Amino acid sequence: MNNLLLVVLLIFITFASSTPMRRQDTHLKQCEGTFPNEITSYGFKPYPIIVGQLVTNHVTGKVTVPVEEGATVKHSIYYNNQLRLEHTEDFCSFIVIPSGHTCPVTSQNFDYTVNIMAKSTPNDPKNVVLDFFTRTLITNPDGRNLTCIEQYVKYSFP
Ligand SMILES: *[C@@H]1O[C@H](CO)[C@@H](O)[C@H](O)[C@H]1NC(C)=O
Repeated sequence: MNNLLLVVLLIFITFASSTPMRRQDTHLKQCEGTFPNEITSYGFKPYPIIVGQLVTNHVTGKVTVPVEEGATVKHSIYYNNQLRLEHTEDFCSFIVIPSGHTCPVTSQNFDYTVNIMAKSTPNDPKNVVLDFFTRTLITNPDGRNLTCIEQYVKYSFP
C-alpha cells in the first residue's frame, strides 16, 4: 500500500491557447471556511490525467482580493484518507505567468490555461485508474488564504 506514492511534479512547459474542454465531474467544491476568490471551473485534458504525460489545466474564477506577487499554491493529494503528497509552488511563476498574465492578479475574472507534467515515479502502480482527493489552497504573502478548493481527480497509471 505504501508503494502507492504518487508524485505529481508540477513543471510548467508552455502556454497553451484556450481550448474548450468537456466539463468533468470532479465534484469541485470550496473548502470549509470563507475564501474571497472563487474558482468556478477546473478542467483537465486529457481526463483521466495520464501519469507521465502533460496535462492541460484550465481554471476559471473570480478575484475579489488581489493575488500578490509571492502568493503560494499548495496542493495536497489524498488516497484512502491518507495524505500521499503535498507540495507548494509560487503561484505567479507557476500558474499566472505561463498562462500569459502577470501578478498581482487584479482582474475580476480570470481564465488560465497551463500545461503541467504529471510525473511518474518507479513506485507508481500499473494499469489502473485511481481517484485521488485533492485540495488546492492559494495564500497571499501576508498569510491570507484567498482560495481553497477540493475535488476528486482521476489519474491513469499506464
Ligand atoms: C489558511 O489555511 C490553512 C489550511 O487550511 C490553515 O492552516 C491556516 O490557518 C489558514 N490561515 C489563515 C490565516 O486563516
